[in-house]
Amino acid sequence: MNRPRAKNSHRRPLGCNQNVLGNEPADDAHRQKEPPVLIRITDPAHATEAEATDEALYLNRRSVLTGMALAGLLPTAACAQEKGPTLPRLAARRTRNLNETLTSYDSVTHYNNFYEFGTGKEDPARNAGRLRTRPWTLRIDGLVNKPQTIDIDRLRRLFPLEERVYRMRCVEAWSMVIPWVGYPLGPLLKLADPLGKAKYVAFETLNDPAQMPGQRSRVLKWPYVEGLRLDEALHPLTMIAVGLYGSILPNQNGAPLRLVVPWKYGFKGIKSITRIRLTDRMPPTSWNRSAPGEYGFYANVNPAVDHPRWSQASERRIGEFRKRKTLPFNGYGAEVAGLYRGLDLARNY
Ligand code: MTE
Repeated sequence: MNRPRAKNSHRRPLGCNQNVLGNEPADDAHRQKEPPVLIRITDPAHATEAEATDEALYLNRRSVLTGMALAGLLPTAACAQEKGPTLPRLAARRTRNLNETLTSYDSVTHYNNFYEFGTGKEDPARNAGRLRTRPWTLRIDGLVNKPQTIDIDRLRRLFPLEERVYRMRCVEAWSMVIPWVGYPLGPLLKLADPLGKAKYVAFETLNDPAQMPGQRSRVLKWPYVEGLRLDEALHPLTMIAVGLYGSILPNQNGAPLRLVVPWKYGFKGIKSITRIRLTDRMPPTSWNRSAPGEYGFYANVNPAVDHPRWSQASERRIGEFRKRKTLPFNGYGAEVAGLYRGLDLARNY
């Protein structure tokens, strides 16, 4: 991924009194003086190994600070933002667990990719507070018998909410373990009654530069778009998430609804979705459009196929020091490998 490195900005420690949701007023005057983000794309988009290490150490240091605060070694007020979610809770039954340590709420919500709010890892937490997530509607249309527009409050109640702990592997070679709240995408799509000729599902993020300042830059073509084959979309692991850590999604994580496909690289997890369209053609996807030689449509986690500029064989779990091996399909192969029987995964990356 042509990851612009927002030099320095992502390593700047957050002020401990910073609002978890990044509700600070945007500093537009300052932003306009910055060079266009696209210019920063001259660097490898993703962390080089050294940068990834720095980031992992940095985040780990934050975890240590949290531990110190909990142990009473630091004034509690000094690290108020290290607390868990303060957003409205969602009642959900845990249906899927993982015998791996959860990534801290603080890291999950302050180490983000959401280019509509900036290209630095901490920009989304800082800038996404301006996003209005109510009223919000999701449009489902295209090759369906029953196109529909669903209000977010209704959408949250359509099916029983489940908590599912999934690994998330970013194409930048870092990973997290996140307890998502939501439900499978399949039943939602079936509400619209897809036509027999529908073969793919296209997703679209809100397009509103007034609320999403990153959309005023040309770092990507907007709106952010993603796609799945229909059988991938209907797979029971594929999830529409409306929350994490038992509460509604923070804006920086893609409120009010996002896609979670745990066997694919994180960039498939399109955020703040406003439209889902059933189609008979493979839809364009944002990162493939931006760098087709680096990011394919499928984007299945595959340690055997390196990114042209770095290895995908291992990953750094945020909060850990040692690298760990990356698992084929991110460890979900037993459930999903059958979707790709007969497909050359080196060519269909
Ligand atoms: N969705 C939109 N609309 N815009 C983005 O920039 N970034 C993607 C994905 N979804 C992105 C997006 C990438 S590259 C990743 S790795 C994940 O979101 C990150 O999700 P997280 O910030 O919740 O960890």
